[in-house]
Amino acid sequence: MQNNAIEILRLLQKNAAGSFQVAQSLPPGIYHDDEIHQLEQQRIFHRDWMCVGRLAELPQPGDYVTFNIADQPILVVRQKDDTVSAFANVCLHRCSRLLEGNGHVSKISCPYHSWTYDLTGQLVGAPFMQRTHDFDLKQHKLKTVSCEVWQGFVYVCLQENPPALGPRLSNLSRQIEDYRIADYVHVHQEEEVWGINWKCLAENFMDDYHLHRVHANSFNKYSSFEDVTEFFPGEDAYAFQYVQEDGGPHSVKAHVDNHWLSDDKRHRTYLINIFPTHLIQLQPDLLWYLSIMPDGIDRVRIRWSVSIPKEILETAEDRTAYIAEEIDFLKQVNGEDKMAVTRVHEATRSHEAQQGPLSWLERNVWDFGRYLARALCD
Ligand SMILES: [Fe+2]
Repeated sequence: MQNNAIEILRLLQKNAAGSFQVAQSLPPGIYHDDEIHQLEQQRIFHRDWMCVGRLAELPQPGDYVTFNIADQPILVVRQKDDTVSAFANVCLHRCSRLLEGNGHVSKISCPYHSWTYDLTGQLVGAPFMQRTHDFDLKQHKLKTVSCEVWQGFVYVCLQENPPALGPRLSNLSRQIEDYRIADYVHVHQEEEVWGINWKCLAENFMDDYHLHRVHANSFNKYSSFEDVTEFFPGEDAYAFQYVQEDGGPHSVKAHVDNHWLSDDKRHRTYLINIFPTHLIQLQPDLLWYLSIMPDGIDRVRIRWSVSIPKEILETAEDRTAYIAEEIDFLKQVNGEDKMAVTRVHEATRSHEAQQGPLSWLERNVWDFGRYLARALCD
């Protein structure tokens, strides 16, 4: 490892080992160093659980989604028994990628030579193979990838036999289980590619400090949240904060038919990072999540989706207009963030870029840095 990467890791570890009162931003080189990027691939993206979407986005058997984790093509498909499975998206014949994007299939058929697999990954068809010695369909099954569902979110992990995700999130589950988010109705999903290092966006999502400036015309149009946000360091697998509003005219609020949320939670917004790349904004009236995946050192693929509680959609005067308004708002927020994080990504290349002191509103930014230190510096 070159001196540059060694120094970045030293600074990362030093910052994580100190107290939050003296915490600083990440060393700027961490967004641009090739060796750090390679280390992240090995120690984060080949090891940790990655959210790939919600179960509700794959409602029917045969509904699938594809994506790459650290250059590994993966497919996730809903099974006939309603479970969900993940496989390497690689044909067992000549290694073609099998499925693209997302959609629905009754069988997984390779677009190169038509080898065909059922939804369990079992090879069930392979034309013109009858002269091949000892060829037996039953001997070929797609490589299974670990897959788990938590609160209606689907996660996969490239590690063989990884530690289960659920127990690592059990305390977070207790915080948010009253919201019943698995029942929120999926209404919208998008994918975007931004020209930044993935960490710029992961930090930004959990940064409460930029709201007053970057989101002055969106989140902060009617209120400011600095004095009503509670920060929690979380545990090894996550960190979170919540904004406790009061139910005023512009506050988030649970629907009158929602009888399962207690008083405070009816007006509370959770912001969660399940490390490293699952960013969640949970409200009693909205669920917005981003699943982000680096595509090289200076590109990030973002899959974001919006879900809304059933009781709100059922009583909306104009359901289509209600959904459109929520999506437009989140697109505005995304646009504001994109400009902000692009500035950070570009300027952290400067020879003059240095670590700066953090505000108390950046508690979870530091927690993310501590996660990186645990993952990269051991
Ligand atoms: Fe933001």
